[in-house]
Amino acid sequence: MMTMEAMIQTLPDQYRWADRLSIPDLPPARSAIVCGMGGSGIGGQVAATIAEGPVFSHKGYGLPAWASSLPDAVVIATSYSGNTEETLSAVEAAREAGLHIVAVAGGGQLSELALAQNWPLVEVPGGLQPRAAFGYLTGAVLRLVQGLELLDDTGLDEAATLTDELIGADLDGPGRHLADDLAEGLAGKITVIAGSGIASVAAYRWKTQINENAKTPAFVATLPEADHNEIEGWSTLGSALRRTVGVVSLRDEAEPERIGRRFEPTTRLLSEGATIVGEVWAQGSSPLARIASLAVIGDLASLRLARDAGVDPVAVDAIQELKRTLGEP
Ligand code: PA5
Repeated sequence: MMTMEAMIQTLPDQYRWADRLSIPDLPPARSAIVCGMGGSGIGGQVAATIAEGPVFSHKGYGLPAWASSLPDAVVIATSYSGNTEETLSAVEAAREAGLHIVAVAGGGQLSELALAQNWPLVEVPGGLQPRAAFGYLTGAVLRLVQGLELLDDTGLDEAATLTDELIGADLDGPGRHLADDLAEGLAGKITVIAGSGIASVAAYRWKTQINENAKTPAFVATLPEADHNEIEGWSTLGSALRRTVGVVSLRDEAEPERIGRRFEPTTRLLSEGATIVGEVWAQGSSPLARIASLAVIGDLASLRLARDAGVDPVAVDAIQELKRTLGEP
């Protein structure tokens, strides 16, 4: 099995693979619901954030009650293993509702079903952990959404170039140094990642990478919503507990001025007595490149946190145990 470091180094090529992908013939659709969980679901969140047409991310069993009343909806089911219970249940609900289905999978039951039913299928290369296949999965979903004419420019080419620069040839690029600095401040702490708009999707990626790679709790504070609840939610914690929290803000020059002016007071109120560890600014011009530039710093920081904590970033024993308990292959 490859190390997680080696997997992360393949990210730029994953974006390039998706950029060159030949898209299967797609059903006519005017909206899309992307169904997938965890590392396979984040592509739907990215697509829902950057698409110009109606694209929704669904994470759970079945489909939302409104799914069949969407005009000409297609369900894009994404699962790296192809065996995730919730995603297969969404596919079943889509069949029952008579909706078009398109699959993105690395094998398993989802691939078998798509081949047997003649649904359009994008098969992504296997051998990685699902979360390390971010470029394949997100890229495939974006190309499908583009094929459905719900997104004009995917930004995959720019995301590849920028990620390559940030990671560096031997994982020694400028992104690595920034990530190491942030990881030093976050070591032994619970991370809160603040973000808004495209940066909020990147913050969610940070959270899940810190959870799964570094085996550490992490939470997202989305602005401006957090200003209406979360800033109240820390004040009764004792100062010793608050000192175990580290806050990172993900910023984007394209964020509206009214959002930008919230970061300083929000993080100060969120973290009184805690540590404001730093800010990361998005780079690039396309929305995907800006998300990818923020996300890759989180990937690298999570690897440094894992190394410093002495845990294996690849292993996801708890996730696998739960899936076994529920009878997933
Ligand atoms: O990162 C992980 O391993 C998980 O979040 C999985 O992506 C999630 O459990 C869904 O599995 P799959 O990606 O195989 O559909």
